[in-house]
Amino acid sequence: MLRKKDLIGLKDTSPEEIEEILDTADEMRKIVDSKRKDSELLRGKTLISLFYENSTRTRTSFALAAEYLGANEINMGVATSSVQKGETLKDTGLTLNAMNIDFIAIRHQMAGAPALLAKNVSASVINGGDGMNEHPTQALLDFLTLRRHFGTLSGLKVAILGDIKHSRVAKSNLYGLRKFGSEVSMYCPGTLMPMEIEKMGAKVAKSREEALDGADAVMGLRIQLERQSGGLFPSLSEYSSFYGMKDVLLKYAKPGAIILHPGPVNRGVELTPSLIDGDESFILEQVTNGVAVRMALLKLLDEFRQSR
Ligand code: CP
Repeated sequence: MLRKKDLIGLKDTSPEEIEEILDTADEMRKIVDSKRKDSELLRGKTLISLFYENSTRTRTSFALAAEYLGANEINMGVATSSVQKGETLKDTGLTLNAMNIDFIAIRHQMAGAPALLAKNVSASVINGGDGMNEHPTQALLDFLTLRRHFGTLSGLKVAILGDIKHSRVAKSNLYGLRKFGSEVSMYCPGTLMPMEIEKMGAKVAKSREEALDGADAVMGLRIQLERQSGGLFPSLSEYSSFYGMKDVLLKYAKPGAIILHPGPVNRGVELTPSLIDGDESFILEQVTNGVAVRMALLKLLDEFRQSR
């Protein structure tokens, strides 16, 4: 059983806990594939989606995860809520918690916001992405995709190309994959590479070819124009030419290497359209696995709260 009320990040999640989430997600994936939404597992439970930033995949898959398990999902709609009148995150959390809800999935532009919320509510808080810190459910769905394809999370090499500095996905993947002894190599313009990333366990490559050398999976990351103050690279077309993932570069990865991307993707910038849509692409498989992972988390966090 998961021994925590909340899922805030993978930095503080053990390999055993990650395995348990993935084992449960494998079971949940069967429900998703069956398309049956008649489970009673979380009947009467309520999930609040509290997204201070835009989302397609994460918010929708939390809603679907709740629906598959018989729970209700309410999207709080931050843009039309009293947050716009100056209500603090703590007060929003206390207010929702007083309505006896069970889960809050939160995305916030500030690193640490989910942890702050979790300290103030009895509901289970799940981090759907906080600033440049972590996006644990994205990394878990990446791990489920890798494990279902390669049969293991150990001894893999994952190459990550893209905007690593602003990426919470890169950090959660790095924290998690290193716990299983997998190698994470990274390549991007120096201005987009965080200073401390090697201390966190990443191998910083000097070229795309070096990053890809022997990789089992190549993960493209979106250039996050909205988080940049400007001037971190000359132009999108130059980024694509010198740092983007091209079909011809696949030969440096292992035969059978797969392409991953958390989405949304800037087509033709971090990945070519032919890689996004090609046979090596597992991008839509990641999306389906995202529903299963969020179902698993709702189930396991609920079990923990029931056990207390
Ligand atoms: N991968 C991801 O977080 O996508 P969304 O921003 O669409 O939720």
